[in-house]
Amino acid sequence: TYIIAQPCVDVKDRACVDECPVDCIYEGDRMLYIHPEECVDCGACEPVCPVEAIFYEDDVPEEWKDYYDVNVHFFDGLGMPGGAAKLGPLPKDHPMVAALPPQNQ
Ligand code: F3S
Ligand code: F3S
Repeated sequence: TYIIAQPCVDVKDRACVDECPVDCIYEGDRMLYIHPEECVDCGACEPVCPVEAIFYEDDVPEEWKDYYDVNVHFFDGLGMPGGAAKLGPLPKDHPMVAALPPQNQ
């Protein structure tokens, strides 16, 4: 899977959403998250993010390694919704993201 890391927090450019052929990039309160089981690893989202927040799971910079679990566990209890558009923005974040001070301002 691909994952979204810290540079997205409080930025949420959303250019990635328009590129994803399976609509597996879901919006939280402070960042967006890629569903690890719905992502088909097409890679289309990665080059369009203006803040370079998106990485293939094996290429996540060391300082943001925790964001693999952040993306995975954001979906705890949500199962496989099968599309971000129909679900809409979710009024929550992974607890680690929710606890961050304002980012990337
Ligand atoms: Fe975030 Fe970049 Fe997408 S800022 S919303 S990962 S285009
Ligand atoms: Fe979509 Fe990016 Fe995965 S475009 S399929 S989230 S690699």
